[in-house]
Amino acid sequence: MFNFETSLGQASFANPIFTASGCAGSGRELSQFFELTELGAVVTKSIMLKPRSGRATPRMAETPSGMLNSIGLQGPGIDIFLEKDIPWLRDQGANIVVSIAGESVEDYAVLARKLRSVSGISALEVNISCPNVENRGQVFACHPETARAAIEAVRRNIGGELPIIAKLTPDVTSIAMIAEEVVAAGADALALINTVLGMVIDTNTMRPKLAGKTGGLSGPAIRPVAVRAIYQVHEAMPQVKILGMGGVATGRDAFELILAGASAVSIGTATFGNPTAVMKIKEELKAGLIAHGFDSLKEAVGYAHRVEGNL
Ligand code: FUM
Repeated sequence: MFNFETSLGQASFANPIFTASGCAGSGRELSQFFELTELGAVVTKSIMLKPRSGRATPRMAETPSGMLNSIGLQGPGIDIFLEKDIPWLRDQGANIVVSIAGESVEDYAVLARKLRSVSGISALEVNISCPNVENRGQVFACHPETARAAIEAVRRNIGGELPIIAKLTPDVTSIAMIAEEVVAAGADALALINTVLGMVIDTNTMRPKLAGKTGGLSGPAIRPVAVRAIYQVHEAMPQVKILGMGGVATGRDAFELILAGASAVSIGTATFGNPTAVMKIKEELKAGLIAHGFDSLKEAVGYAHRVEGNL
């Protein structure tokens, strides 16, 4: 019997296929197509302290094998989220990973305090890498000091054992160095990678296509960047579990991230084209692992690092 179970920090999941934050809201639309309990976890859209309408439109553009977005963390704010989304997700029986984002270190502290006594949450994804903020200084994960401060604030205020998954950007010189900082600050696991900062210029209007000018690039175009980042971080810290993401559209793609070192995989952009992509990827991944002779998912995690004769 194949064992598909996985874990991130102290949290366990029945399978490794998660939604990606920002690509399925809190799962309501997806629940028309399948039971959310079929997922390893629902990762909610990063929630902020206050309601937020996001950046001006247009805020999406197609790119070769990808998509550029500058949503700007649109959302209802933590109080409405806790009142409406969390009870609904609990009713579905979903495994819940709540993603949070802040404009300041203090925001992260307050968000953590608001979540500390909420039941039914498996883990917290701390998004310190959204590229779509007015001030690049708010991309906490671009600098070791700010990355550390944000994660320390969550660790101090969350209390108890709720695992913290720090979400990092590949737009840095050394993602392994930032990963080491956030783990030292109290992160139990890592989410790799957020979108890659990009820009599209419309050659007819001769102006940037997005109102926010820059945006986050996602989709298959960034998968090699995700594989590289996961591989580098797993090599530096093999004991720290990774939630991998970035352009996964098939079970083969998910397998590639797992071989690099991911213990679970989030599916984002693929869901926009096919709301049941997550279920297809889950089945394809399981079949692929079995076809390669694995008895469990865990045996395959980081397999690409193992040297011949030391398998
Ligand atoms: O703009 C956004 O809402 C995207 C957030 C993110 O990529 O973290």
